[in-house]
Order: sequence, then structure tokens, then C-alpha cells
Amino acid sequence: MEPFNLIRQMEQEETPAAEELAELLANSDKKVHAALFEAADRVRKNFHGNAVHVRAIIEFSNVCRCECAYCGLHAKNHKVIRYQMSKEEILNAAQDAVTAGYQTVILQSGEDYSYSRETIGQIVSSIKQMGNVAVTLSLGERPFADYAYWKSCGADRYLIKHEISDEVIYNRYHPHSNFQNRLSCQRELYRLGYELGGGFMTGLPGQTPFILANDLLLLKKMRVSMAGIGPYICHNETALRKNPDGDVNLTLRVVAVARLILPYAHLPSTTAVNVKGGLKNALNCGANVIMQKATPYQYRNLYDIYPGRDSKNIPLKEQYESLRSELNKLGRTIYENGDA
Ligand code: 5AD
Repeated sequence: MEPFNLIRQMEQEETPAAEELAELLANSDKKVHAALFEAADRVRKNFHGNAVHVRAIIEFSNVCRCECAYCGLHAKNHKVIRYQMSKEEILNAAQDAVTAGYQTVILQSGEDYSYSRETIGQIVSSIKQMGNVAVTLSLGERPFADYAYWKSCGADRYLIKHEISDEVIYNRYHPHSNFQNRLSCQRELYRLGYELGGGFMTGLPGQTPFILANDLLLLKKMRVSMAGIGPYICHNETALRKNPDGDVNLTLRVVAVARLILPYAHLPSTTAVNVKGGLKNALNCGANVIMQKATPYQYRNLYDIYPGRDSKNIPLKEQYESLRSELNKLGRTIYENGDA
């Protein structure tokens, strides 16, 4: 199909075929890119207005049992200094974020099973008591009973990306688990009533435009409420060392398509996009969410998933207010009201 027609159809909420979408993603015509970004920006504005949702992420442990081929925190990387924050440290960091104005706290870690179901549950309920705050968990694959228990403790959302939708490549890059497990976790989380956050990387070695198109369509199939899409960034202590980073412009086009096919979804400008200088652009092509670190300063550099992650030592309140003025300069505001 002619690319401009396809963009128009998607804007009218028609789901594209994978082959057609792949062709659009491979199209290098700048006019096509511009049309895509403009359509995504319109849809973002219609469905979400100019307010940007701001989330605080606390990366509370970098211990991980997994062996993801792209991730610097994989279990066999003995060069990383591992840390595990105590329950008190996590609650203090969460309180700081809430006091600074953040209305969502994301708790993220490697797959670190030394935090028991009960410990995580206590942390979730304590944060929920801090006020009008949503709690998002991003703890990877766990027994379904853990997911159910945390929901009963008040957890609102769960982030677990499918990373890449090609089953063979997924299984090669995740030797500790497999693609079907990942999808079962997503299905279960949805069934339990979590707002499900999915997502994937762009530019992973082996990922063709057709796979990328299917990555996008899978988000829809899994009924995600949020989708984090970021470029693959090469880390030298991983199995995928020496592969080139994902392309930021391609990532932005993929975010734009996600906006068209999932108009209601929350789409963050992911940390990986921001590291590559794409924050402002992402907000202009569909993104309506920003995630900022609220991890205590002494741990930030140790959460070394990929290189280049920023670790400025400024108080959270200042970080929040400086984001507010950055956004205001772009004609955007921070979403703040009674409803977290
Ligand atoms: N480059 C970009 N993103 C990565 N992630 C992990 N490793 C990398 C990398 N090398 C992303 C994955 C994961 C999230 C926590 O970080 O998408 O879900």
C-alpha cells in the first residue's frame, strides 16, 4: 500500500497487516517519516492532550538470575558490583519521590528472588499508604502466585516487555527462559487486573522490519496499557558485544506507529531513547510519559543495563521541577491531579 494511505488508515484506527507495516518501517523517505510523526502527534494530542505523565523509577537491586544476551546485568557478568537495597532504603527512596511530586513509583530490579513475595508485598502496601500514588512493578518473571499476592497488596501496574517477537531469536537471547513463558506472564498479569506494560527493543541484531512490525502488532494482541520502546544499546560485557546500537530515528518511527495503533496507551520516552538525546523528539511523535530515576545516587551507576545512563546527583524535587520547566518550554505540562 502507498505509505501515506497506510498512515491515514492507521490514524483511523485500522490495524495494518504485518507485511505492509514492515514496508512502512523500512521506508527511508523523509516525507513519509514526517507524515508519520505528524499523525502520531495529532493522535497523542487528541487522546492525551499536552500533559505528560511523569514516573519515578527505583532500581532497587541489580542482582539477576537471567542471562539476557544484550543486558549488562546478566548473571555471568562478574565485573558488575552487585547491590541490593534494604526495605527501609526502598521505602525512603519512594517517600522522597512522592514528596517531590511523583505520582507513580516504579520498582524495578533484576530477577532477584531473594526478595520474597511477602517482602515485596509489604513494600507495595507501605508505598500505597504514602498517599495518592500508583505502584508499578518491574521484577521480571515470577510465580503467578507472587503476581496475585502483590495485586492484593495494592500494586497497580506491571511492566514486562516481550523484548523481541521472533520466538527463535527470543529463545536464543534468553537462554534461562523462553518466549512462551514471557507471554504467559503477560497474559496472567492482564487476567489479574494489572495495567500491563509491554514493549521491546529496536535494532536488536537479527531484527528485520517484518519482526519489528510483529513487535508492534503483538502489543495490541496482548492488550497492553503501556509500551516501552527503546533502541538496543550495545554493552561490551554481553554476548552481543560489538553489535551496532539501534537507530534512534527508526525507534521514533516505531513509537509513532505504536501511538497510531494503540491510541489510548501510555508510551514513555524510554530511558534508552533519552540517553540517545531523543527525549524531545519522542514527545513530538507519540510519547506521553517520562520515566526519571529516583534510585539513590550511590547505586545509579551500578544499574548498568547499557552504557550511557545518566546519573546526575540532584535532589528529586529539583529534578522534578526542572523537568517541569523543560516541558513547559515544549508547550507541555506535567499531568498532576487527584487521580494517580
Ligand atoms: N539496550 C537497550 N535496552 C536494554 N534493556 C536491557 N538491555 C538493554 C540494552 N543493551 C532494556 C530491556 C529491559 C529493560 C529493563 O531494559 O528492554 O526490559
